[in-house]
Amino acid sequence: MDRLAHLFERNRAWAERIKENDPEFFARLSRQQSPEYLWIGCSDSRVPANQIVDLQPGEVFVHRNIANIVVHTDLNCLSVVQFAVEVLRVKHIIICGHYGCGGIKAALEDQEHGLIDNWLRHVKDVIRFNREAFDGLGHAQKLDLLCELNVREQVTNICNTTIVREAWKQGQALSVHGWIYDVANGILKDLHAELPPGAPRAGG
Ligand code: CO
Repeated sequence: MDRLAHLFERNRAWAERIKENDPEFFARLSRQQSPEYLWIGCSDSRVPANQIVDLQPGEVFVHRNIANIVVHTDLNCLSVVQFAVEVLRVKHIIICGHYGCGGIKAALEDQEHGLIDNWLRHVKDVIRFNREAFDGLGHAQKLDLLCELNVREQVTNICNTTIVREAWKQGQALSVHGWIYDVANGILKDLHAELPPGAPRAGG
C-alpha cells in the first residue's frame, strides 16, 4: 500500500517554512481559532478557499460540497453554519461558486450519473425557477449563467436558514456575500447577490 510518504514530506517542509517566518504561529493557533469568514464553496480541487483569497490557516471556516449548495435540510451544512455564526461569530458568510463547475454542467445536461443526480436536483430547480433567463442562449452562456444563478439561489437559501434569521433578529453583525471564481484566470467576482439584513425573502 502506498503510504503517501511524499505528502508527509511536503507537510513537514510546509510547517517548517511557516515556523521560519513566525515561530509562534502554530502555538498561537492551537489556543483558539477566530475566523471572520465562513466560506461555502464547491468541492472542486481548483477552488481551494484559503489559497484563492490568500488567507492563512485559522482565518476562514470552510464547508464545501458539489456545486456549493445550501440545502434547507442538510444537517452537515447547517451544523457548520450554526457553529460558525453562533460560536465563532463570523462576520461574513461567503457563498462562492465557480465557472466551469462540473456539478452545474451535469445539472444542465440530461445524462444520468446515479446517486449524485439527487443532489444536483437542487441545481435543476434553479433552472426551473429561472427558465426564461436561459432563452436564446448557447450552451456555454447557459453554463456561466447557471453558475451565477446558483450562487444567488444559495445566498437566498442561507439567508432563510433559522440560524441567519435568528442572528439578524438578535442584531448580530453578519453579512452574506455571493461570489464567483473563474478557474481560467484565478479571479474572483462579487455578484452583489446579498440581501439586506432583515429584508423580506422570496417565498419566505
Ligand atoms: Co464546482
